[in-house]
Amino acid sequence: MTRAPALALLAASAFAAVLVACGPKVEPARTIPARVPIPGPFDAAAPLVASGNIVAEGNSSFGKTTPASAEMKNVTVMADVPVERFMAAMLAMKGAIGAECKECHPVERYESDEVRAKLKTRQMIKLSVEIGELYFEKKSRVTCFTCHRGKWTPEQDPPLADRIRAAKHPVPVLSPVQSAKPAEQVFRRVQSFQGKTAASMMTAMASWTAAVGVDCTYCHTEEGTWEAENVVQKDVTRAMVAMTDRINATWFAGEPIVTCWGCHRGMPIPERTAPDAP
Ligand code: HEC
Ligand code: HEC
Ligand code: HEC
Ligand code: HEC
Repeated sequence: MTRAPALALLAASAFAAVLVACGPKVEPARTIPARVPIPGPFDAAAPLVASGNIVAEGNSSFGKTTPASAEMKNVTVMADVPVERFMAAMLAMKGAIGAECKECHPVERYESDEVRAKLKTRQMIKLSVEIGELYFEKKSRVTCFTCHRGKWTPEQDPPLADRIRAAKHPVPVLSPVQSAKPAEQVFRRVQSFQGKTAASMMTAMASWTAAVGVDCTYCHTEEGTWEAENVVQKDVTRAMVAMTDRINATWFAGEPIVTCWGCHRGMPIPERTAPDAP
């Protein structure tokens, strides 16, 4: 492998294809340590109160309240949510995806299941709970807002102009022969990219700098010692790759629908709630 003081340029067209690096192989889930404090379970803005996650988070007042199932006619995934919190959860979901009540409910017939989006939303609630359970100590660090950002359809890729980020350090330049080889035959410490080509691994590296809004060194050492393993962000990123693959494998038929950019939007710590949330 030769090194040249090149810019980490990546073909914009190849961007989406490499966001999910590891295809159908899904690794076991593991806990990702928190870097920012997570507001308590009764944070009014956290859409995941909608999920019954408050039970898992062990709030002491739980049990003294009436579950939604006692008063609502047709609740399933939210059956255990305290009825006192139920409408706040509806409002939070509405805001997080920028929808109106009527986009999920026929007017005044909230118990009806005839709107497809309501059924889809039940899946979305399950998905959100599952991410918290598998990766974030049952906390709602990934919320409806994290993916949706106030929009019905989440984004997948950064705007074209933002897909290229200059690297501060000389980055590896692969020969055509190396490019086509499996990554583990070209690089030293390959786990996530086993069986993928070396070229696809380097394209992913460049796309991550844009998706997470960082330089290469954020996940590697300041000196650009790429194979070093002592940077926590490198380790977290492997878990992120596995998490992204699992979400797509489980909920999106294996298609690369959920992406690094989808949650991160150019920030190392994704947003959980709208800045102006109540
Ligand atoms: C993104 C879709 C979505 C939006 C927007 C939404 N809801 Fe819901 N709502 C649901 C789902 C899903 C359920 C069923 C939850 C379950 O199965 O546990 C539900 C259930 C309800 C119920 C319980 C009905 C019953 O008796 O079973 C009420 C009441 C309700 N919603 C009111 C509202 C109101 C008022 C708004 C607007 C502020 C709203 N919802 C916005 C998806 C939505
Ligand atoms: C991990 C990211 C992620 C999370 C978390 C998430 N969603 Fe989604 N949601 C998506 C994606 C991606 C789509 C688009 C699916 C597609 O194109 O097939 C979507 C689609 C939807 C739709 C549109 C369904 C349709 O049929 O058009 C609704 C409504 C929705 N989500 C509501 C929610 C609610 C409410 C929550 C929180 C309880 C939530 N989502 C959490 C990623 C997410
Ligand atoms: C968001 C974190 C992240 C960013 C940003 C990132 N990398 Fe990586 N890098 C990783 C991870 C994780 C691995 C190990 C992948 C695996 O296990 O298959 C890795 C591995 C590598 C390797 C292989 C090292 C070896 O020999 O084992 C090289 C080379 C590399 N990265 C270069 C870069 C360059 C150049 C950039 C900037 C364009 C960059 N990386 C940006 C996370 C990152
Ligand atoms: C479903 C949403 C979601 C997806 C998809 C996702 N992430 Fe994350 N990521 C998070 C959350 C949440 C955190 C933890 C933030 C915290 O500590 O509170 C995180 C943390 C990280 C961190 C550590 C940041 C730090 O400074 O501690 C890195 C690096 C990272 N993600 C990279 C990636 C990469 C690369 C991808 C794509 C392979 C990716 N993420 C996909 C939600 C996501």
